[in-house]
Amino acid sequence: MVYQRPKGTADILPGESENWHYVEETARRVFKTYQFREIRTPIFESFDVFSRSVGDTSDIVTKEMYDFYDKGKRHVVLRPEGTAGIVRAYVENKLYGPEHPKPVKLFYMGPMFRYERPQSGRMREFHQIGVEALGSPSPTIDVETIAMALNLFKQLKLSGLKLVINTLGDQTTRQAYRQALIDFLEPHFAELSKDSQTRLHKNPLRVLDSKDKQDQEIVKAAPSILDYLDETSTQHFNQVKQLLDKLGIAYTIDPNMVRGLDYYNHTIFEIMSNSKAFGGHYMTVCAGGRYNGLVEEIGGPETPGIGFGIGLERLLLVMQADSILPPAAADLTAYIVGIGTEAQTTVVQLAQIIRGHGFTVEHDYLNRKPKAQFKTANRLNAQVVITIGTSELEAHTAHIKNMANGKEVSVPLTEIEQDFGAVLKKVRGESIG
Ligand code: HAM
Repeated sequence: MVYQRPKGTADILPGESENWHYVEETARRVFKTYQFREIRTPIFESFDVFSRSVGDTSDIVTKEMYDFYDKGKRHVVLRPEGTAGIVRAYVENKLYGPEHPKPVKLFYMGPMFRYERPQSGRMREFHQIGVEALGSPSPTIDVETIAMALNLFKQLKLSGLKLVINTLGDQTTRQAYRQALIDFLEPHFAELSKDSQTRLHKNPLRVLDSKDKQDQEIVKAAPSILDYLDETSTQHFNQVKQLLDKLGIAYTIDPNMVRGLDYYNHTIFEIMSNSKAFGGHYMTVCAGGRYNGLVEEIGGPETPGIGFGIGLERLLLVMQADSILPPAAADLTAYIVGIGTEAQTTVVQLAQIIRGHGFTVEHDYLNRKPKAQFKTANRLNAQVVITIGTSELEAHTAHIKNMANGKEVSVPLTEIEQDFGAVLKKVRGESIG
């Protein structure tokens, strides 16, 4: 029997996991400067959390959920996205209370699950870095959220990005536009793709971002949502655009961009990359928008919200293709070579002592000859090689070689025990302060 990982999942191996850490740590650092704080919510949630929020006509809910009944016959789902669970936690933990300054700014990182057709940048288990800001209707938070994502990408040295924005207006706008769209599309019903025919009455906005060529031709003449915005929606969108301009953030407006989740209104946005990782096509690495009304939907008080999700796998594909991942750090301080089995105990003790001082240490576990051990020390790029042979055992010393300049010293073990940092300085030829 050959076991394989499930289709659409990945093993993240040593060598790759360091890249994940780098991106995650950079995100933590950037988010902190905007005062976003981490929240961790369960990986599975009750089915209703998503059907009520993401939308029971969305692809995610109708086709892509990993949902099942647990042993207690509860209908649960491996979360397909982060927002709904965060909003559930916000309501359940009463983060809307007066002791939490508004907006409540949260970020999260972790796996999400969608039963999709796997391809490059599209997985069944994938990871998102996401943020949600709850409690402010101000366009400033829309813009800051977008700016924060772009700032993160700048810190990560990404280039070739395109910010696309649109607005879906408020509830009234959406209703009026929905009807206008149905009226426009109905005479074309027979020419529409099967998917779009199904969506026409359930979720006509989705017809706008159909991938079908003929659908795309038809919607070219469709009314634009921008012509249906009411006063407040227009004002909100104008302020978003003005503030983006003031911050010097370039963007394009795509009135046909609608997003695949039902909870959005007002500002929506995507940050796309045309990296060679995606064959020069634009692929969305970050997507989000405003979702006023979602907190009420999940049972909380009226609370506006906005956020985004970054696809970590996609981001890493770009960084790899653009060669902007940092080189693997050579962080082995010392390799201890033991000569003969009688050295073994001292080697283990010494390793434990040096690690206790906070330095990284490696040694041999396979009784290999000194020559093989020295070879490994070289391959691992150890800064110093410590040798314990018969004479060192007798004299209670260690022989230390600085691999950078070849300098060698013999040090009493007690000195290493007391302060390995000072010993290192000595070997490096640095003055001990
Ligand atoms: P989304 O557009 O469904 O939005 O996903 C956000 C990002 O997650 C996508 O742009 C993409 O980079 C990544 N992603 C989505 N599906 C996959 C997949 N199957 N494989 C690899 N990467 C994928 C959301 O999930 C919203 N919760 C974002 C949000 C937060 N809106 C407001 N707050």
